[in-house]
Amino acid sequence: MNYSGKNIWITGASSGIGQAVAIELSKKNAHLILSGRNEASLKETADCCEKNGSSVLTVPFDLALEDSVVSAAKIVLSKGITPDCLYHFGGISQRSLAYETPLNVDRKIFEVNFFGTIALTKAILPAMINNGGGHIAVTSSVVGKFGFPYRSAYSASKHALHGFFESLRAESSNKNIRISLIIPGRIQTDISVNAISSDGTTHGKMDEGQAQGMTAEKSAGIIVRKLKKEQKEILVGGKEIIMVYIRRFIPKLYYFLSPKLKPL
Ligand SMILES: NC(=O)c1ccc[n+]([C@@H]2O[C@H](COP(=O)([O-])OP(=O)(O)OC[C@H]3O[C@@H](n4cnc5c(N)ncnc54)[C@H](OP(=O)(O)O)[C@@H]3O)[C@@H](O)[C@H]2O)c1
Repeated sequence: MNYSGKNIWITGASSGIGQAVAIELSKKNAHLILSGRNEASLKETADCCEKNGSSVLTVPFDLALEDSVVSAAKIVLSKGITPDCLYHFGGISQRSLAYETPLNVDRKIFEVNFFGTIALTKAILPAMINNGGGHIAVTSSVVGKFGFPYRSAYSASKHALHGFFESLRAESSNKNIRISLIIPGRIQTDISVNAISSDGTTHGKMDEGQAQGMTAEKSAGIIVRKLKKEQKEILVGGKEIIMVYIRRFIPKLYYFLSPKLKPL
């Protein structure tokens, strides 16, 4: 993938990994479309990207609201822009026990992480196919590969993304649609601060594990290098990503370790 002159839509561009990836890609002379809810933060990302030489269109939307996502896609397509790349980073985490979490909170997590993400993909895909194809990347998590305490709906929503996007890859590779799944471990962002608690409010704390994670900038460098190669699975993080291999190759060890994992 040569990013120069390409239209790249990045969700979650107002913060954390998505923001750092947008800034990294802005050094490659791309045309960026940036989305998230927080317009002031999106503008900060846009200013930084423009300084690096990329043109930027900000299109705020709420992933939890289908209409908001679909109308954002219409705005972009009506400007004659067809994304060559659609990179999904928008998402929300969870900090609550499954039995204490009401179903409406589980649904909210799925609306943002799963339904919002696939709504945007479905809204853009026909134009991308008509345009000769494109590259779609979706941000899962290591907990999209195994269960983790205090993350029941979050982990489930990330597992769901693997099922959806692997199926999409299988059915549309003949239309030149390439799919990458980004699988971060612990990255130092506000993800735990913004995570949803059992009562629907935000967790509001930087968890110890989060604070010790890889920086968003370093992760963005690794992610962009691997996105450029259109790698199908992009694992990024510190030693915690070893658990993906333990779950796959030594499941008994994972079953032993999983109740002992530190969730906060
Ligand atoms: N940090 C980690 O350790 C880690 C690990 C594994 C996976 N991930 C995944 O990486 C992705 C990026 O997270 P991050 O770590 O960068 O966290 P972050 O700093 O909290 O960023 C989350 C991004 O998602 C956007 N977002 C959240 N809810 C949204 C909504 N309803 N509508 C539209 N946009 C929404 C936020 O924008 P607004 O607030 O402006 O809407 C923000 O730009 C997420 O999918 C997350 O699940 C992160």
